[in-house]
Amino acid sequence: MTGWRIANHRGLFHGFFGLLIRIIINRIIKHLRGKKQRDFGPGAKFIAAFPFTAIIPPMEERHLTRIDRILAGIDHALRTVNSAPARIVRANPAADIEETELTEQEKSHAAGLMRVNHAGEVAAQGLYQGHAAMARDPSIEAQMTHAAEEELDHLAWCEQRLDELGSGPSALRPLWYGGAFAMGMASGVVGDKWSLGFIEETERQVAAHLTGHLDRLPLDDLRSRAIVARMRDEEEQHGANANAAGAAPLPQPVQKLMQSVARVMTSLAYRV
Ligand SMILES: [Fe+2]
Ligand SMILES: [Fe+2]
Repeated sequence: MTGWRIANHRGLFHGFFGLLIRIIINRIIKHLRGKKQRDFGPGAKFIAAFPFTAIIPPMEERHLTRIDRILAGIDHALRTVNSAPARIVRANPAADIEETELTEQEKSHAAGLMRVNHAGEVAAQGLYQGHAAMARDPSIEAQMTHAAEEELDHLAWCEQRLDELGSGPSALRPLWYGGAFAMGMASGVVGDKWSLGFIEETERQVAAHLTGHLDRLPLDDLRSRAIVARMRDEEEQHGANANAAGAAPLPQPVQKLMQSVARVMTSLAYRV
């Protein structure tokens, strides 16, 4: 009963604030359009036209200004933290693997680890959207948006597995997304090569972290293991892509700071 009430309050919290922020964004855009001082671009118009169900239009149709991209990032954040991803492009790697018998303790431990991975994917969405919002080179913006789309599959796979394990995602999703979005924007301000360097280092750390999870997940939890193994391989590829696009290696202190932030995040998301 207590668990139901907490879960219900979390849902109300996310739903209410999500709705409120969308209404505020819509009002701001309508106000700006009313003044007719500037053309804020098709992204803002699209969001204004569909205030409660905004969808980012296909990449080839977009010519977004910076304010469009920031508003689209905020809308994307609300959709990411409030509900499951709208679509899954690729099949779940665990789709053909039969469920195995797990003890309650194993289930709880596996759920904790998968909740950490789900939180990491929420953060990945924020990070890539933050980078894309500030990218100067359109090809790098497109690469980051594409990577964020691939990460949506990871997000969905983790969410499906959490559901199968009788658990749910971290209640701190707005914090994971917002923090990562801010970091993505901050590194984007410094320049694309540093932004790419931040992505390369993040993906390297995430891949190493997922390898650690393969050691810690119950050996019989074949479905979780299949998802984590695929994600690990793809995170390595994302890192390699950032490197190929011209990533600058980050200074050691920054790498250490990123590791410390990740440690706090993983220990919190395992529990909450
Ligand atoms: Fe991912
Ligand atoms: Fe990735």
